Amino acid sequence: MAGRPRIILDCDPGVDDAIAIITAARWTDLVAITSVSGNVGIEHTTANALRMRDLLDIDVPVHRGAERPLVAEPFHARHVHGMTGLADVELPVPDLEPDSHDAVAAIVDATRAEEGLHLVPVGPLTNIALALRADPAISRRVASITLMGGGATGGNVTAAAEFNIYADAEAADEVFRSGAPITMVGLNLTHQVRMDAGHADTCRGFGHRVGDVAAKLVDYNISVHRGGGRPGSGAMHDPCAVLAVSHPEVIRSEPRHVVVEVDGAHTRGQTLVDERGRMSVEPNCRVAYEADAGRALELILQAIREAPGV
Ligand code: RIB
Ligand code: CA
Repeated sequence: MAGRPRIILDCDPGVDDAIAIITAARWTDLVAITSVSGNVGIEHTTANALRMRDLLDIDVPVHRGAERPLVAEPFHARHVHGMTGLADVELPVPDLEPDSHDAVAAIVDATRAEEGLHLVPVGPLTNIALALRADPAISRRVASITLMGGGATGGNVTAAAEFNIYADAEAADEVFRSGAPITMVGLNLTHQVRMDAGHADTCRGFGHRVGDVAAKLVDYNISVHRGGGRPGSGAMHDPCAVLAVSHPEVIRSEPRHVVVEVDGAHTRGQTLVDERGRMSVEPNCRVAYEADAGRALELILQAIREAPGV
């Protein structure tokens, strides 16, 4: 559809990744979905991406990506996303195999074939770092690398580190030093966009299978975050990165210099944002600070309501 941003969604489905796929299907031209090891292992993240493709009945290639971080041991979040990554949602075994087992080559080929694509990674940055190693000129050919990860005010895995950055800090470090046009949509932003039981009921009220699946994912997300600071709702992290590309007016960001801590005994995986203003080092990315949460939630719910294939 004319005017919609064309993106590659790199993901580790993942409860919020699944909602991000629905959001991207509605508001972007999804050139490809690439999977990465993250919330759960690569077998499950790839199968879940394929399941979401089948659920939405969309014609989008899915490419299987990195099965482990660049250096670190694989690190998962089954306690947040369930043993297989899609909460307690039962979806049929995928109709087809992945279109390839080389997400990195798919990213390199797609960005060589078409300038101006947005890379939207919402899992660990392993595939993106490997693609930039294979072809550093990607940093000049893409319209953006708009990533869900990191944050300006602390982490969720540790006090300092957010999961996507922590799981592959070396990859994140390479991406932030690549010179690519990065927008960091971190926890300080995504915790403003929260879905509660009312949103789950709204999804069930749509009366179709995508709404029912989304409702289960929202309910599960609330349940696993019950102990958090704001019981009764759960942040919808990954769809925020998609909306930052499809509806940039929904998210306010500012230029900042950000470094990724790789070796800190207590701070590995921290995205250290330089807030010193004119004393700061030259910015290397944009950091998202403020969301129009009401509008973001409207767009996510509309994407679910109007999902293809229902
Ligand atoms: O910290 C939140 C991020 O980690 C989200 O992308 C979620 O899916 C997990 O991957
Ligand atoms: Ca994710």
